[in-house]
Amino acid sequence: MQKMVNKVAVITGGNSGIGLATAKRFVAEGAYVFITGRRQSVLDKAKATLGANVTTVRGDIANLDDLDRLYSIVKSEKGSIDILVANAGFVEMVDTGNATPVHFGVAICRYLPECSS
Ligand SMILES: NC(=O)c1ccc[n+]([C@@H]2O[C@H](COP(=O)([O-])OP(=O)(O)OC[C@H]3O[C@@H](n4cnc5c(N)ncnc54)[C@H](OP(=O)(O)O)[C@@H]3O)[C@@H](O)[C@H]2O)c1
Repeated sequence: MQKMVNKVAVITGGNSGIGLATAKRFVAEGAYVFITGRRQSVLDKAKATLGANVTTVRGDIANLDDLDRLYSIVKSEKGSIDILVANAGFVEMVDTGNATPVHFGVAICRYLPECSS
């Protein structure tokens, strides 16, 4: 039995990796899924993989206008969200012995000029 019938999910960074795997599972469980990412070509490829019950929305999660547009599209197409998977992001891979405090803050600070010092 499908566990997510009539559920609406938004998965940021749902065009590849963990986000795409999550989208596949959600669709298989009966959910309608919105996936986001910055690269339209990767979103198109993901949509082709996922098949039905998917809307792609191109945008950068660090851009407030893009987030407003995502909100508007989901609201107009489905009315509300049941599940939000805040997955978009990146990791700078480094051996544990070579990790510095910068590696723990750089991901956030890359988008926040006020904490770049
Ligand atoms: N894989 C791991 O071992 C691991 C470990 C710890 C945490 N994580 C976290 O788990 C999440 C997924 O990891 P993953 O390995 O599946 O990564 P991934 O394959 O690189 O996928 C991340 C997706 O997020 C999208 N993205 C990145 N920045 C974005 C932005 N600013 N706005 C919108 N979309 C953005 C990328 O698409 P576009 O480039 O097209 O935007 C990409 O397709 C990340 O947040 C990562 O930090 C992963």
